[in-house]
Amino acid sequence: MKFFVDTADIDDIKDLASTGLLDGVTTNPSLIKKSGKEFIPLIKEICKLVDGPVSAEVAATDYATMRKEAEVLRKIADHVAVKVPLTPDGLKVCKELSDDGTMVNVTLCFSPSQAILAAKAGAAFVSPFVGRLDDISQDGLSLISDIVRIYENYDYFKTEVLVASVRNPLHIVESAKMGAHVATCPPDVIRSLYKHPLTDKGLAAFVEDWKKTGQSIL
Ligand code: E4P
Repeated sequence: MKFFVDTADIDDIKDLASTGLLDGVTTNPSLIKKSGKEFIPLIKEICKLVDGPVSAEVAATDYATMRKEAEVLRKIADHVAVKVPLTPDGLKVCKELSDDGTMVNVTLCFSPSQAILAAKAGAAFVSPFVGRLDDISQDGLSLISDIVRIYENYDYFKTEVLVASVRNPLHIVESAKMGAHVATCPPDVIRSLYKHPLTDKGLAAFVEDWKKTGQSIL
């Protein structure tokens, strides 16, 4: 499973990229606002830090303006994935850009029928929002399961399932069991994947016992 980090915070991206386990970055207008930085220079900076897909979202909602914005965004770097909303206009932009060889991430997906449309529009990624469905008492993970199963039925659907709105490690583990291709996660959720109390306890015991041997490897 690939891990993208869902942030526009440069320090977090640098830190997670240094692990060698980071496969890409996703941003959205809310994350850009939170960063307090200028959008285009920020995406350029992120693209220099990470080789994998970097999602940059259009701001407009009408076809003509989204199309123009997408032109600006895709020129930033070859590994920019232009992010468009799952609307008729967004999917029209998606189809055109995808036909032209640009990666597109279709965002704000909340149903299997929407995911089918994103695949038909040639999206490189579809982003189903697990946490936001859980927030309204719908089962976010069952949406992931549905989309993975549907996509498996059609070899010609090349769209990767990018699990979004991830809130905890269980969202990632369960999505991985289902065969989702990618999870985009807040930085602290990625960091929490390392943690287990028995790892800490076991390591402390090994360190203590090693000291008692009086030996050194170096
Ligand atoms: C996806 O690309 C979105 O940026 C993100 O996962 C949304 O997550 P949220 O529901 O925590 O805002």
